[in-house]
Amino acid sequence: PEGDYEKGKKLFKSRCAQCHVIDSTQTMTGPTLNGVIGRKSGSVTGFDYSPANKNKGVTWDRQTLFDYLLDPKKYIPGTKMIFAGLRKANERADLIKYIETESVK
Ligand code: HEM
Repeated sequence: PEGDYEKGKKLFKSRCAQCHVIDSTQTMTGPTLNGVIGRKSGSVTGFDYSPANKNKGVTWDRQTLFDYLLDPKKYIPGTKMIFAGLRKANERADLIKYIETESVK
């Protein structure tokens, strides 16, 4: 089912925004998520990725983000993203709804 944008916005602020922006190209602890939908993993110029993230070779879309955010360390063994993951599928769907809306602005 389609996620809820407003719930996703709250989740982004509480769980992701300390390390990622989505509304600009600014690098924080993590790479910008502006334009992340349709982007190849590990491809933000100038961001110092782990080899694991750099070499993952996926394109970020609804499905790959949905799988990644369940358990980032399982999806990308060796990632330096310190985030436990979101076990609830509905929360991942909400967050991805927000990301896919905001990442193209
Ligand atoms: C990488 C999303 C939370 C730090 C990534 C990537 C995505 C992502 C999609 C891969 C980017 C790419 O390949 O260009 C998210 C989302 C989060 C979240 C949606 C919240 C649910 C966090 C938090 C931190 C963080 C809380 C910091 C404590 C990083 C870092 C990387 C990364 C350092 C690069 C990993 C590496 O090079 O191994 N994140 N993230 N993220 N994220 Fe997050």
